[in-house]
Amino acid sequence: MTDQLHEMILRVRETHGGETYMVTTHGCQMNEHDSEKIITLLEEMGYKKADREEDADLSVINTCSVRHSAEDKVIGHIGKLKHIKKKNKKLKVAVCGCMMQRKESRDALLETFDHVDMVFGTNNIYRLPQLILENDHKDATVVEIEDNYTNFDNRIYAGSASNSAYVNIIFGCNNFCTYCIVPYTRGREISRTSEDILEEIRGLVADGVKEVTLLGQNVNSYGKNLPEKTSFSALLRAVSEIEGIERIHFTTSHPKDMSDELIECFRDLPKLANYLHLPVQAGSNRVLRAMNRHYTREDYFTLVDKIRSVRPDIALSTDIMVGFPGETEEDFADTLDLVERVGFDNAFTFLYSRREGTKADRMEEQVPKSVKDERFQRLLNTVYTIQRKKYLDLVGSTQDVLFASRSKNDDSKMSGRTSGFKLVHVPYDEKYIGKIVPVRITGGNTFSLEGEILDEAK
Ligand code: 5AD
Ligand code: SF4
Repeated sequence: MTDQLHEMILRVRETHGGETYMVTTHGCQMNEHDSEKIITLLEEMGYKKADREEDADLSVINTCSVRHSAEDKVIGHIGKLKHIKKKNKKLKVAVCGCMMQRKESRDALLETFDHVDMVFGTNNIYRLPQLILENDHKDATVVEIEDNYTNFDNRIYAGSASNSAYVNIIFGCNNFCTYCIVPYTRGREISRTSEDILEEIRGLVADGVKEVTLLGQNVNSYGKNLPEKTSFSALLRAVSEIEGIERIHFTTSHPKDMSDELIECFRDLPKLANYLHLPVQAGSNRVLRAMNRHYTREDYFTLVDKIRSVRPDIALSTDIMVGFPGETEEDFADTLDLVERVGFDNAFTFLYSRREGTKADRMEEQVPKSVKDERFQRLLNTVYTIQRKKYLDLVGSTQDVLFASRSKNDDSKMSGRTSGFKLVHVPYDEKYIGKIVPVRITGGNTFSLEGEILDEAK
């Protein structure tokens, strides 16, 4: 953190210290991590978390624009805040995230709502103290956006409360899949230097972190723009050397960029989690081509075989979309077939959503909603049938579980994740929180497992 940022934080603390905040996050892990940084900054500025949004002095909405439904939710939320603000006049509203990176969405928001006080983008989170100070002296909305990530001097280490932490390694995306808005919101790929990343991880270890998730829209592109000669697999090997790090996850990988060197990491690095998220999007070669994905279904099968040959029991997860423009019943059958043949442990399923400015939005033959909905249900049934089997197959086995917190819906239990990222619940025992512990799996369903702790914490 630069001296200048530090000084800004202190200045906000003088005027706003003791006020309360609420941060609401829409979207992906990248946004979740950005929100962690925003919360870190707010707490350094002396803000405290509000119990209810109605009582907050500052409400920050971190937005997502990947699908229309995400944008609708954001608009609904901001609309609700207008009513809250009528009762609670001192409430300040800040809107940030992907939706604000797009000029069209930003302009529409500013035109529709006059109760938004601050707008900032994904690349200038570190400017929040400055924006709060500016807003104190201004009636109009304070707006600040940067197109690309350049803030290497002002990185904000969000830290971790649960012994598991996200670490950004690359920002932006150069792929331009024809359906996707991300290259228009998050900008072009920019990697952090490996020294910077390793320093952050060493700092996290000193705070007690045992598991890191390396984040990027396409982590496999890591290092391409850097002057140092490096690659994602080289970075993984370096992270794996850090004493104290016990488990390494990463997301997201593009199948076209899964190099042999990266697959070898699954062979050589025991700390690499037994889990790979590898979005396939569709099972039809015609649709994959129209999506600009640069691989075929056969390439995907070959990749899965290679990965399973070095890690036979790896858990595979994916993203799949139904209803891409021009998708026929035959194309969709190819998707179902691929899902069955690969046997994913977990799949995130999406209805294709038109995004203005993308190539797919201009394609003819948009699939009618009723057809999309019907295919979506069929896909979900297939995905869940396989997923349930994958979970139940683990009953009777022993899994290393990193326990994070009490279970959400049952206070008497705590929950954690296996190396294959499956959720496990066991009876609550505080001494195991933050530790990786062997657990015998005693039961399960499509979404989680039950178990009992076998041993003292490692
Ligand atoms: N419509 C539906 N799903 C989308 N995704 C990205 N863009 C769209 C869109 N326009 C999905 C992809 C991606 C995931 C993060 O969101 O499956 O992998
Ligand atoms: Fe979007 Fe494709 Fe980039 Fe993923 S790889 S962020 S789907 S453009």
